[in-house]
Amino acid sequence: MLSTKDLETISSSTLNHYEANAASFWEGTRHHDVTQNYEALLSALPNKTGLKILDFGCGPGRDLAYFKSLGHLPTGLDGSKSFCEMAAAHSSCPVLHQNFIRLDLPAASFDGIFANASLFHVPRQELARVLKILAASLVSGGALFSSNPRGSGEALNGERYGHYLEFDDYEAYLQAAGFAVVHHYYRPKGLPRDQQPWLAVVAKLC
Ligand SMILES: C[S@@+](CC[C@H](N)C(=O)[O-])C[C@H]1O[C@@H](n2cnc3c(N)ncnc32)[C@H](O)[C@@H]1O
Repeated sequence: MLSTKDLETISSSTLNHYEANAASFWEGTRHHDVTQNYEALLSALPNKTGLKILDFGCGPGRDLAYFKSLGHLPTGLDGSKSFCEMAAAHSSCPVLHQNFIRLDLPAASFDGIFANASLFHVPRQELARVLKILAASLVSGGALFSSNPRGSGEALNGERYGHYLEFDDYEAYLQAAGFAVVHHYYRPKGLPRDQQPWLAVVAKLC
């Protein structure tokens, strides 16, 4: 069982890595094609503009800008101050500077949550609690999209903490938080499973 201090150390170390590499992260990821993931979330939501979408772990703002370009009302959230500033500049969207382990979100406020490559940074012992907070921030019928590297266990990759789950175990966490999975797939698209390190899941509030 990790102490509060351990959890702070882990998240600070992870965030320090992103802070130190913020500019190169943007250059390296700004043109990533995540169309499949955008469509996965949007297909689980009402077919209209003006959807309130929380980009959880928004990084420097690529996906906020995309959702805004479609006429939605995205809000970013990230623990890296540099990423929050970059995301606001790149998207002109509101961006919350919050740590995943100390979230303060409005209740029943978002139609959807887009958590692209971010939830795996939540220390595993906190995952159930964080998923419940995310569930409480969604409106009735709201949807959570998440994409994470799959596997088992927890590890430090340099300074960055990650936990890894395969679908069945992750589904159990989602169900315990009040979600029902509607769709899951592996990425990159079209490759054999052993060359698809990413697990993408769309879940809706029950
Ligand atoms: C792999 S990046 C993904 C960024 C973006 N979603 C994307 O797809 O490009 C992980 C993001 O999670 C954020 N993050 C990691 N740990 C965090 C924590 N404890 N609190 C808040 N944000 C955190 C990082 O700052 C980073 O923006």
